[in-house]
Amino acid sequence: MVRLTLLVLAATFVASSSFTPRVFSHRRSSPLFEGGSMKVADAGVVDANVYNVNLEKAAATLTASVQVEKSAVRAPGVPFLDSKSKDYFVDDETFLVSRDGGLGLELLELAGGRDDGFGITIVENVVKGSNAEKAGILAGDSIASVGIPSPSFVFGSGEILADVRDCECRDFDATIAVLSSIPEDVDCIVVNLKRVRRWPKIQLRVEYPPSQCAEGVSNVKDIELFAGENLQRAMLNRGIILDDPGQGKCDFCGKNSCVVSVYGGRKLLNPMGLTEEKLMERNPRCRLSCKTTVGYNMAEGDVNVRVNLSQWSSKEEK
Ligand code: FES
Repeated sequence: MVRLTLLVLAATFVASSSFTPRVFSHRRSSPLFEGGSMKVADAGVVDANVYNVNLEKAAATLTASVQVEKSAVRAPGVPFLDSKSKDYFVDDETFLVSRDGGLGLELLELAGGRDDGFGITIVENVVKGSNAEKAGILAGDSIASVGIPSPSFVFGSGEILADVRDCECRDFDATIAVLSSIPEDVDCIVVNLKRVRRWPKIQLRVEYPPSQCAEGVSNVKDIELFAGENLQRAMLNRGIILDDPGQGKCDFCGKNSCVVSVYGGRKLLNPMGLTEEKLMERNPRCRLSCKTTVGYNMAEGDVNVRVNLSQWSSKEEK
């Protein structure tokens, strides 16, 4: 019910408030504007946009969080956009958007009504053919800040803008106030926004040595991992028993069950570091699970491993 009300509210805002494409209209084209987007979410191997969600999912997932302690990235007490669900995360995207003819955005207030202007406002619709659409902004995105580039600014150069106006976790009016504060003669703006994405998942098949399983019990267990998880920790957290008395103890940690054999999905694992490469020289199929991360570069797919390797009989291939 609340959601419907907010949708209606937003429609009213778009129709009657000062926020229309007219606010951003008729700019001459800028020699700085090259269009497109700059991905900041990954190393460019996997296109993070494959994990985008639709407007309804973004609206249902976003929430405002506050940090009590100061951290390296956030001040305490300042609200920031967060995900309500561990299956989704809030990613950062940066776009250079022309103002020639307006941005072409319609905004939706998800939360607001406070004296201090804090709330949640997201993009409800991106006008077809608009500058926002050309740049790559999507329905469900939330504008976190707007930067005014200097005349010499080159998009993607890493230059930190001197004039950045923050509007993360602001209600509709506060967001509009920031967008409307950009001087008339600014041709294009740098839009930093928050985008909800689904966490990529890894389907991990773990095979135990049959000798470690009771009669009639399958030696195969299928579990689901999130991209970026440490393989050993993820297996232990999901009840996989790593116990291999026949394997020598690790010099670093004293454990005896770190080595796993990878039968499928090796490309979904992080590359080996020098130490691991050296240790695994004679076992090219194996990995140290404590040094292995699944879903490398946010990729998803299937991985198949065998554990407790010395417990496999000689007839069974390790
Ligand atoms: S647990 Fe010791 S090297 Fe992996």
